Amino acid sequence: MSASGFRCVAIAVCVAFGLAFWRAAADPAAVAQIKSRQDKLRDMGGALKAINDELKKRRIDWDNTVMPNAQTIKDRSGYLLNWFPRGSGPESGVKTYALPAIWQNDDDFVTLGKLAQVEAAKLNQVALSKDANALKAEVEAMGKACKACHDSYRSPDYTKENDN
Ligand code: HEC
Repeated sequence: MSASGFRCVAIAVCVAFGLAFWRAAADPAAVAQIKSRQDKLRDMGGALKAINDELKKRRIDWDNTVMPNAQTIKDRSGYLLNWFPRGSGPESGVKTYALPAIWQNDDDFVTLGKLAQVEAAKLNQVALSKDANALKAEVEAMGKACKACHDSYRSPDYTKENDN
């Protein structure tokens, strides 16, 4: 092989390695984006669980438990659809349970996100009304709205790797 031929091969190998490395190293912006959305979703999960646990008690603490947690869910769900920009799926190289289907069925994802917002607003209303039966029904409706999205757009690995 001539010297220039060798150089070509060497460059091609370097470029290939470089690309592989570049693909493997996740973009810091994507890491921050995904971690922050997971933290906020976890907060929402904790808030819904706190309300659900409160319902099992003999005396419901509306002011200190139900109301603030319902508020958290309502506030967060209002932003949920902003947390999934294109490129923040598994192709980012970051560990995420967000499925690529989110960006393939954008309309459906947005519909489910908006339905969850509607339930979150209702949950907040019910929390303010302090009606235990209404709260029970609404917590269930809220849980269904969260689950409807998870069933299609969150990897089932999440439930395998986590307790809830
Ligand atoms: C429109 C879709 C959608 C809705 C609505 C939705 N989620 Fe999720 N949720 C997701 C996706 C997608 C993920 C995976 C995110 C990731 O791993 O990057 C997720 C992840 C989570 C997680 C795991 C976070 C972690 O990594 O520890 C929890 C907890 C969670 N959601 C709770 C909720 C609750 C509670 C609601 C309703 C109040 C809700 N979600 C509504 C799509 C949704």
